[in-house]
Amino acid sequence: MKILLVDGTVFGAKTGALLRQVQQYIKEYNSELELEILYFSDLKHQILDGSPLNEDMQMMIDKFEKADGYIIATPIYQASIPGVLKNAFDMISPKAMRYKPVSMVANGGTYQHHLVVENQLRPILDYFRCLVTPNYVYTHASHFDADNNIVDDEIKNRLRELARVFVQYCKLSQLLPKEPVDNH
Ligand SMILES: Cc1cc2nc3c(=O)[nH]c(=O)nc-3n(C[C@H](O)[C@H](O)[C@H](O)COP(=O)(O)O)c2cc1C
Repeated sequence: MKILLVDGTVFGAKTGALLRQVQQYIKEYNSELELEILYFSDLKHQILDGSPLNEDMQMMIDKFEKADGYIIATPIYQASIPGVLKNAFDMISPKAMRYKPVSMVANGGTYQHHLVVENQLRPILDYFRCLVTPNYVYTHASHFDADNNIVDDEIKNRLRELARVFVQYCKLSQLLPKEPVDNH
């Protein structure tokens, strides 16, 4: 199975650090999963406005469509997810992520915005009919050192648990045929 780990930040390094930690834990639970990190900061983003899509956006859509599962890591911007992440979801076919496992991790500058994950990111993934794991991890600057290494052991445990559950959701998703019996 191909797992796409998406780093939705365009500036910093904390969500990338979270993703690499999750990547390591997933590998420990199942070394057969094919893991790839997609850093949004590497892409030339283009707003969805009807113009032909550039190569980076086509490559991004292709990676989303070919993946069998996802870890979505997002910073919090203006009490929401970044525009580039919403824009990416807008470019993907509504069926591309259907019945595929997803876990969410997020980082914010304040503790107050952890419900952005529950109230804004999860509904989008529910719309795509993803198999979203019940656990997600929200971090804050105080969980990192000055070099953006995760220094909080409880956060590491929560990321490990998220990886453990995600790997089981990957197995579950293989039992569920992707072809629906309805036309919806
Ligand atoms: C444009 C912008 C808006 C932001 N808005 C919020 C916010 O509303 N709430 C919050 O908790 N943090 C906010 N932050 C802080 C970011 O969430 C934080 O810098 C980011 O998670 C750090 O992760 P990164 O190093 O991977 O970019 C904002 C940062 C930027 C650049």
